[in-house]
Amino acid sequence: MVWALAPLVILLIHPAVCSRLILSPLTLHNGLGKTPPMGWNSWNHFGCNIDELTVKETAEALVSTGLAALGYNYLNVDDCWAEMKRGSEGELTARAATFPSGIKALADFVHEKGLKFGIYSDAGYFTCEKQPGSLGYEEQDAETFASWGIDYLKYDNCYTDGSKPELRYPIMQEALAKTGRKIFFSICEWGVDDPAEWAPDVGNSWRTTGDITDTWKSMTTIADLNDRWASFAGPGGWNDPDMLEVGNGGMTIDEYRSHFSIWALMKAPLILGCDLRDMSNDTLEIITNKEVISVNQDSLGIQGRKVCKKGPEECHEIWAGPLSLKRTAVVIWNRCEGDADIEVSWQEISLHPSTRVTIRDLWKHEYWSGVYNESIVVSVAPHGAEMFILSPGWSSLPKQVLAAVFDTMFASQ
Ligand SMILES: *[C@@H]1O[C@H](CO)[C@@H](O)[C@H](O)[C@H]1NC(C)=O
Ligand SMILES: *[C@@H]1O[C@H](CO)[C@@H](O)[C@H](O)[C@H]1NC(C)=O
Repeated sequence: MVWALAPLVILLIHPAVCSRLILSPLTLHNGLGKTPPMGWNSWNHFGCNIDELTVKETAEALVSTGLAALGYNYLNVDDCWAEMKRGSEGELTARAATFPSGIKALADFVHEKGLKFGIYSDAGYFTCEKQPGSLGYEEQDAETFASWGIDYLKYDNCYTDGSKPELRYPIMQEALAKTGRKIFFSICEWGVDDPAEWAPDVGNSWRTTGDITDTWKSMTTIADLNDRWASFAGPGGWNDPDMLEVGNGGMTIDEYRSHFSIWALMKAPLILGCDLRDMSNDTLEIITNKEVISVNQDSLGIQGRKVCKKGPEECHEIWAGPLSLKRTAVVIWNRCEGDADIEVSWQEISLHPSTRVTIRDLWKHEYWSGVYNESIVVSVAPHGAEMFILSPGWSSLPKQVLAAVFDTMFASQ
């Protein structure tokens, strides 16, 4: 292939980013998840080794670190919170050894901190860690969850009866709706039944892949798999590429920054998975980046996607998506092993070449001086990502920046 033609070919493979503004007509109307949910879940760091005290300390950490104020307001307990057998009335009960005060008391504690409380069950006979599943007990369990004050249910897919998730998940959704309590429904069938095609009508989010692990390989693979379903996401229903691993130690700072940038751009749920009681400054800096969070929480709710792959091994990637106020979010992701200067042309991100924009660097927290058209070139560290908002609309810019922009425009005439 003639090298100069490569970008054209890539553009044909990856359709233009701004082409889809119509949201799925099927989106579940329970009023939740207008923007992707944010919070914390116990699984990625603690697995089955979770208890009441850890959850309470995490609730306190969410507040004291400022994470709650940034929007991380769901505190979700994953598998291993229940006794291995149901009670005498068939009810789920908290595991006495690790959750002695019971789930209702824990939910009350979490609510008093101004947070929401989530729990976990399974659309099968058992959860993945073998506590009772909700298959056949949907109404009773939904009632129990509502009576405890649960705000979010992650619903897994282990030990099923072999029927299709498309048939099993709506049963719990209807049971939740019947309780009258607003409960965010997080579908976790690992993408096996192409949930993007049916789950917008059933849940507020749906996993598109198997579980993430705390490695570069897992994270990049999952990003690509989730990208495939971009057009199905929108306010009320989100593709879920699984929870964040930032801060768990298996990736470098640059890799975690890429992970957070891409998850934010993909409008993924931002569910933290590290030990919030013991975070490095680097971890905290990544997950508290307000500007990156604002891309994730943008009111348009359009999932950004991979629009271009280039470079010698096609490991220089451009990901982009539209934001409100006619802005464009761009992530320039260097998945190669060496430093790179990567060009982004306006065509690649569906802007007309003559569009003049201001550029906000979301990791350096600064505006580039001047206005730009046609293309820009950005240096990106190996496995790193740089993230920008391109703004053609002057009205959205702070006054002092506007002044600087006009200075540059008039100076250049
Ligand atoms: C982390 O940040 C805090 C507050 O800014 C600072 O006091 C502390 O020295 C930093 N720790 C390290 C290891 O840099
Ligand atoms: C980009 O801006 C430069 C400088 O103002 C101008 O000469 C050029 O024609 C512009 N390109 C397009 C495609 O509008």
